[in-house]
Amino acid sequence: MRPKVIVNCAMSADGKIASRLRKQVRISDEADMARVHKLRNECDAVLVGVGTVIADDPSLLVKKTYVDEVRQPMRVVLDSKCRIPQDSKVLDGKSPTLIFVGEGNVTPVNGAEVIACGVGQIDLESMMLILEKRGVRSLLVEGGGKTIWSFVKAGLVDEFKVFIGSKIIGGDVAPTPVDGEGFAQEDEFIQLKLVKTRLSESGALLEFEVE
Ligand SMILES: NC(=O)c1ccc[n+]([C@@H]2O[C@H](COP(=O)([O-])OP(=O)(O)OC[C@H]3O[C@@H](n4cnc5c(N)ncnc54)[C@H](OP(=O)(O)O)[C@@H]3O)[C@@H](O)[C@H]2O)c1
Repeated sequence: MRPKVIVNCAMSADGKIASRLRKQVRISDEADMARVHKLRNECDAVLVGVGTVIADDPSLLVKKTYVDEVRQPMRVVLDSKCRIPQDSKVLDGKSPTLIFVGEGNVTPVNGAEVIACGVGQIDLESMMLILEKRGVRSLLVEGGGKTIWSFVKAGLVDEFKVFIGSKIIGGDVAPTPVDGEGFAQEDEFIQLKLVKTRLSESGALLEFEVE
């Protein structure tokens, strides 16, 4: 069975996940950070696109301050041209990292295993088979917008969790949770079922399942 895919992101009240400079901004509050780290701890792997690695340099690790028994997930990066900076935190060796690159672009990267998967952009269906064979049952997709769009378009999303923070960021080029080309026709839209909401001191968490 393919890994269950959970998308998690944080957006401003006006629906942006970063500023127009595409730099990380703090949107989640402390309670939401704790939830995200617990969610990472429960998942077998955490995935981002190389755009997020370059913009934010996340470690994708679970912080001990939020979780009692830490079980670091595998880290996965979509990077067709293998342009990940060698000093990226996901290459720190603190948990295994897989970098999926396009055919013909396999280059050794210290601190990660590099796997060819697809021509041009990463073929997500094939990647899921590889992850499944490596024992990944649950995959947390943390962004950014282009990556989440690819998963949505491929029909691979099972759960969609979004924290809405109390900020307005603005800007018509600021990234949103699901960017890319987007759907044009109403019958293409992905239907969600709202299964949980939680208000915290500075925002709201909405948890959806894909119908
Ligand atoms: N608030 C939040 O929750 C949150 C979380 C994460 C990120 N962010 C923000 O999101 C922004 C980055 O998002 P982004 O959309 O620019 O980049 P991204 O989704 O992180 O990475 C996209 C890149 O991944 C590579 N890629 C390879 N295969 C792909 C595939 N099948 N589908 C999609 N991408 C694939 C492509 O680069 P190549 O062609 O070079 O391979 C593509 O340009 C940053 O501003 C960051 O701060 C916010």
